[in-house]
Amino acid sequence: MKVFLLGGGGREHALGWKLAQSDKVTELYFLPGNAGTSELGLNIEGNPADAEAVLQKAEEYKPGLIVVGPEAPLFEGIVDRLEAEGFCVFGPNRKAAMLEQEKTFAKEFLNRHEIPTAFFKAFSEVAAARRYIEGRDSALVVKASGPASGKGVIVCDAPQEALAAVDQMMVERKFGKAGEQVVIEERLEGEELSVLVLTDGERFVEFPASQDHKPIGEGDTGQNTGGMGAYAPAPLADSALKERIRNQIIRPVLAGLTKDGLQYRGVLYIGLMITPDGPKVLEFNCRFGDPETQPLMLLMDEDLLPLLLDTAKGTLAQTRSVAARQGSSVCVVAASQGYPGSYQKGFEIILDKADNENLVCFHAGTTVKDGKLITSGGRVLGVTAFASDLREAKMRAYERLVGKRVYFEGIYFRGDIADKGIRRLDGKV
Ligand code: AMP
Ligand code: GLY
Repeated sequence: MKVFLLGGGGREHALGWKLAQSDKVTELYFLPGNAGTSELGLNIEGNPADAEAVLQKAEEYKPGLIVVGPEAPLFEGIVDRLEAEGFCVFGPNRKAAMLEQEKTFAKEFLNRHEIPTAFFKAFSEVAAARRYIEGRDSALVVKASGPASGKGVIVCDAPQEALAAVDQMMVERKFGKAGEQVVIEERLEGEELSVLVLTDGERFVEFPASQDHKPIGEGDTGQNTGGMGAYAPAPLADSALKERIRNQIIRPVLAGLTKDGLQYRGVLYIGLMITPDGPKVLEFNCRFGDPETQPLMLLMDEDLLPLLLDTAKGTLAQTRSVAARQGSSVCVVAASQGYPGSYQKGFEIILDKADNENLVCFHAGTTVKDGKLITSGGRVLGVTAFASDLREAKMRAYERLVGKRVYFEGIYFRGDIADKGIRRLDGKV
């Protein structure tokens, strides 16, 4: 079967790498892809969120499955458009993708179905938002309700900061239209967990729970990024917690979707805070996580294609966990100096090509120019290793980076990816 993958980041390289191992996949196409994906199949130029352009390419190549990687095409209703033309598409339709697109929509959904989440209020008027903050003395989080590429969330320590955040969003319009409405939430304490399930709306297939590292600095300090590294399985998610998440979160979410008449077929990423009162939903993403997907693909021990097809067609046979290798996987993101602020592109990348099933350098912001591999984005590579235990997997990933077998000018990476999990295994949490 021919498979079309929309997107061009580390997530898409990892999905493509896994799909390329399927004996049922005959050809892979990426739109637009990156230098890494060009080794797995054909990169097609274009904007994955331009439905008409994608449709034109789909009609030309006739894939048996189209997999949507990033969120922007979902928000544009690409699934509805391609399905209307008879294509089999992995990803939720536009209405269901509102769970990620609009935070007020997600929060109202959670409250309506009594699913644990932070207490919140939504505001469309700046004066009302200010009055609300002035009347509270607890720590708050201010969020632009609309899509802001993960940057529209400001976690505040003091009311003064929350007032400044509201001004940035509603007066200065830092996030444009996305900040016309804001969500103000109570600030939750705990550790975060990423739970990804493939679902056809009824049954679900669970990936091992993972943890992302969003801030740029070690010890989770500094500005938020798209994610500086991830690992799985997260020891935080023991079998009791996993069962609690299934019963209190996943099942009620799927029942809520059905009750609201939303047909959800795709991967649902549930961002959780594990608080002293139990798991609470922070956010939904309607796509695979980046960089969580990179370690998950190395862990996965079954063919990805039939799972994606069954999800897209609504024919998942049963609720279960993804078959996974015994062990752990760690992805360390190598970024350009200056990211998530401004950074230079175009540096030559040194990359030893000794990839194998236990160590893969997934490409994100890479391209080929004049026959040379060069940097073309903020997050450049995700060095991902699998080993029989977490400590070993971390060591294997860092070996490549520290030994400069993966290198470019201005390379930056956090040195503490997976330490949270290692501390827990050591009984230090
Ligand atoms: P979101 O995009 O809503 O997941 O928010 C991005 C990040 O902000 C999350 O991964 C958390 O680190 C943090 N965050 C969001 N909401 C809260 C909250 N209610 N309490 C504490 N931290 C939060
Ligand atoms: N890793 C966070 C995200 O994919 O949104």
